Amino acid sequence: MKIERTLHSKIKEMDFKNISFGNHYSDHMFFSEFKDGEWKNSIIKPFSKILFSPGSLVFHYGQAVFEGMKAYRDKKGEIFLFRPEENFKRFNQSAQRLEMPSIPKNIFMNGLKKLIDIDRDWVPNDYGHSLYIRPFMIATSGILSAKPSKNYMFLIISTPVGSYYLNSLKIKIEEQYSRSSPGGVGFTKASGNYAASFYPTRLANEQGFDQLLWTDSSTHTKIEEAGTMNVFFFMKDKLITPKANDSILRGITCNSILSLSKKEGLCVEQRDINISEIIEGLRNGELQEAFGCGTAVVISSFKMISYQNNIFHFPKISNHKRLSFRLKKKLLDIQHNLSEDPFGWRVKIRRYF
Ligand SMILES: Cc1ncc(COP(=O)(O)O)c(C=O)c1O
Repeated sequence: MKIERTLHSKIKEMDFKNISFGNHYSDHMFFSEFKDGEWKNSIIKPFSKILFSPGSLVFHYGQAVFEGMKAYRDKKGEIFLFRPEENFKRFNQSAQRLEMPSIPKNIFMNGLKKLIDIDRDWVPNDYGHSLYIRPFMIATSGILSAKPSKNYMFLIISTPVGSYYLNSLKIKIEEQYSRSSPGGVGFTKASGNYAASFYPTRLANEQGFDQLLWTDSSTHTKIEEAGTMNVFFFMKDKLITPKANDSILRGITCNSILSLSKKEGLCVEQRDINISEIIEGLRNGELQEAFGCGTAVVISSFKMISYQNNIFHFPKISNHKRLSFRLKKKLLDIQHNLSEDPFGWRVKIRRYF
């Protein structure tokens, strides 16, 4: 792999005390291209614009997939990725469903680790802050027929991030629009899934809600996900999350929370969750907490849920007594190398150069 270092680092322009999500990119990016049936020309180079034909299929038929992952700094300044192999696997599952070539593990992992090593100064120091990493693949053939592209680009870029949501969330249960449907691509990180969610999310934002709680597209009675987060409900001392299916993205954070909770001896259930059950739980006080989880937010608790124009509030619990707060701390402590890593989730970035 070729390495071309920047001569003009932008790190001095970065205000690590005021980080907003995705506003500044680190100095370098990883780039590889798929041509003539193989991946070639892998390079780490300065973050820069890329050139391709306006006819590129990504613009017309939306052949594009991505991942989201993070690098964390520990107290000694060492940098760690969190479960990168899971992102690698999911990336190729997404690519396969969108009829795109899979990326070999050595290209993905080598590119990722070396890029984060070169840009290690871009990983923020503060607890809960991290370098958000975005691997993505786009279709670049410029022949306008509705067929899979022959050529692709794979890139990895990264951006320092702070906390995604500062307050607990106001959630609206969505009964008209759908994020995904059975047999579709909801279980992948296809870029088009996100485009399709923007309009209903904007409508909910205008009504004063932070995020939508997506329901199944056929009956709108079963809960799927919240925005770009998987969801958990803590009810009658059980932690419940919707069973994975092809309309739900199988989250790495969700999977980690399930493992941590089981290890703690919590009763955990993965099953269909009906809206009626949630509303009943909110009415009779048996639903203690609910929260969304994902790489970007880690864990974000819900303040209230709106269903058919009725607003239901969650019981007020002080932060340190919340299950979501304790789980978030456990996860962040592992990510920042502040506690043991019983599942072997941390991957230390060695110094290559
Ligand atoms: C639709 C959707 N659901 C769930 C998640 C959470 O997944 P993960 O925990 O792997 O970030 C994400 C974010 O990646 C997402 O985009």
